[in-house]
Amino acid sequence: MPVDVILGLQWGDEGKGKIVDFLADQYTVVCRFQGGPNAGHTLYIDGVKHVLHTIPSGIFRPQVVNVIGNGVVIDPITLEKEIKAVLPKVPDALERLLVSRKAHLILPAHRWIDLASENAKGKDKIGSTLRGIGPCYMDKTGRNGLRVGDIEKPGFDKLYEKLKLKHIQLIRQFPEVEFDEAHEEKVWFESLESLRQLKKVDAEYWLSDKLKEGENILAEGAQGTMLDVDFGTYPFVTSSSTITAGVCTGLGIPPGKIRKVIGIAKAYCTRVGSGPFPSELLDDVGEKLRKSGNEFGSTTGRPRRCGWLDLVQLRYACIVNGVTELCITKADVLNDFDNISFAESYKVNEQWTSEVPYDMSEIQSVQLSELAGWKQSLADVNFNNLPSQVIACMDKIEKFCDTKVKYLSTGPGRNELLVK
Ligand code: GDP
Ligand code: IMO
Ligand code: MG
Repeated sequence: MPVDVILGLQWGDEGKGKIVDFLADQYTVVCRFQGGPNAGHTLYIDGVKHVLHTIPSGIFRPQVVNVIGNGVVIDPITLEKEIKAVLPKVPDALERLLVSRKAHLILPAHRWIDLASENAKGKDKIGSTLRGIGPCYMDKTGRNGLRVGDIEKPGFDKLYEKLKLKHIQLIRQFPEVEFDEAHEEKVWFESLESLRQLKKVDAEYWLSDKLKEGENILAEGAQGTMLDVDFGTYPFVTSSSTITAGVCTGLGIPPGKIRKVIGIAKAYCTRVGSGPFPSELLDDVGEKLRKSGNEFGSTTGRPRRCGWLDLVQLRYACIVNGVTELCITKADVLNDFDNISFAESYKVNEQWTSEVPYDMSEIQSVQLSELAGWKQSLADVNFNNLPSQVIACMDKIEKFCDTKVKYLSTGPGRNELLVK
């Protein structure tokens, strides 16, 4: 049976966690395939807020086995905290959580290097979540990293010390930053005990067996397409493959097994951290979006930058991911806007284009189009009685992106979702 994918089409925080949780009742396996605790996926279960960083968002569905894939980078400290936070609500969480032996470990010094590197960049900083993501993936691709499977080896401590020496040499190249390595290391080794207790698998074989047995698998992306290390606004990106292709490398699933790609986009745009954001609003309208949408980071609490929906960017994301169904979230945030705007083309080198340029920071201006807002609550509507203005907005998105909108999210709650 097939693998379906849910991933972000913008700069992250599109509401992926909520949609994965909603759709997870149709699957028996939910897997995270990349990223790490830089992610913050918010779910409301029985009115209670949960933010997941490493655990897949299928954990609250009793029939779902949740897999942390090889493409994910794991900080055992964060993972231990997350497990503790979900256990009261999900007593069998440990029974339904599997970790790939090939997932890489975030060491305390990865966070240290992240901090020192960002600090040294000054005004050019990436705006990293400082969770050690970049340095951990550097060790992975540099062929120095430690993996979950290594903690089961008798010589693990030696491997750790060897890598730590490398890190200390690297740290010396940066101006000094405050980081209590000894304390962080102590906490890290304590938290390894929780990781030792988790079920570890060679996930590629495990998932292949599940596919043969006819199970339905859902792959959950973290971050978003514009933060992808290849196709995002490089260098202001994260260090993993956030797009559909990342499902194959991050889980060991062959491309031919992928069926639906459900792309999640907010009805407007947000970004945390630095880097180009063509439709950003630095005025009262941006402030209104931030307030209405409660746009503050789920992981770091930082205020998110806000702007209008960028159709040029969205179409690009549909292309690189092969999106088969669009899900537009946070439509309710626009309930009180008289007019809603859309970015439709960029001026680059004095020429108008509707393609994302090589360097998005070279965009000179952005052409917007405007539609009337619906000025009403969406609490009691469905796809058969949508306000005409909502239909007009969706038509515009569908035409521009050549992809159908199948889901419209109208609130943070699990069931505040319209399905076509
Ligand atoms: P993720 O990282 O993509 O899972 O998204 P986050 O959880 O970081 O951010 C999305 C935020 O929007 C969370 O606070 C969600 O509870 C909230 N949210 C999700 N969908 C909707 C929606 O349709 N309407 C509103 N108002 N909030 C939503
Ligand atoms: P979810 O899964 C939004 C951003 C950071 C920074 C850049 C690099 O919740 O959508 P990193 O910590 O990876 O070195 O940061 O990427 N970023 C996110 N922004 N949502 C996320 O995850 C993000 N994960 C990383 O703000 O600009
Ligand atoms: Mg988030």
